[in-house]
Amino acid sequence: MPVDNKAARMAPSILAADFARLGDHVIQAAKAGADRIHVDVMDGHFVPNISMGPIVVEAVRRVTSLPLETHLMVSEPDRYIEAFAKAGSTSLLVHVEANSNLHRTIQAIRHLGVSAGVVLNPGTPAWAIEEVLDLVDLVLVMTVNPGFGGQRYLTETEGKIRVLRRLLDQRDRPVELEVDGGITADTAPRAVAAGARVLVAGSSVFGHSGGVAAGLKALISSVEGA
Ligand code: DX5
Ligand code: ZN
Repeated sequence: MPVDNKAARMAPSILAADFARLGDHVIQAAKAGADRIHVDVMDGHFVPNISMGPIVVEAVRRVTSLPLETHLMVSEPDRYIEAFAKAGSTSLLVHVEANSNLHRTIQAIRHLGVSAGVVLNPGTPAWAIEEVLDLVDLVLVMTVNPGFGGQRYLTETEGKIRVLRRLLDQRDRPVELEVDGGITADTAPRAVAAGARVLVAGSSVFGHSGGVAAGLKALISSVEGA
């Protein structure tokens, strides 16, 4: 459980924000209780979609002091980590599947002075990250196959979330457990019950019919007391 006693921390994903009003959307999310901002970087190679680069991190950095978590859905992340660190990322999350030298990439991220996280696709088993657990501050379990917002939460990933929760609880150093994809007021309580403590949410926050604040508040209330 985080020290602030929240059931889960909130990481709204700007992939679902209105890019014509990005600064405003980020500020609204921050005011409504976001704990960090999640930035989804896609290269059209590791995933079948292209999204944003370091200039977006730089722009978001100018409007908020919240931590900026950059999720690198790219092949060869080593080529980009320095640019994203310089742009103002607080943490860089890299996929197990994108990298044949995961340990080295994570070391390089830490040398740049930012936090490192490791990400598992739905088809990747929990044990794939065991050898880098001492080097990371966060493990992200994808609850959809990465590439697009607005997909359905895969309940079959909950077994892996539970396994990782047990593994992380056995360690003396805190490592956060985060989930990403299809997180809504309906699915968030399930992910938290399985052991997630940080929730990434795009569509359910920025695409909420009542606005950004209403979306985030609904998500926060859904896990209160969980
Ligand atoms: C998926 C991205 C997610 C995405 C989540 O490839 O990594 O962060 O923005 O979007 P929703 O919450 O709409 O599933
Ligand atoms: Zn993401």
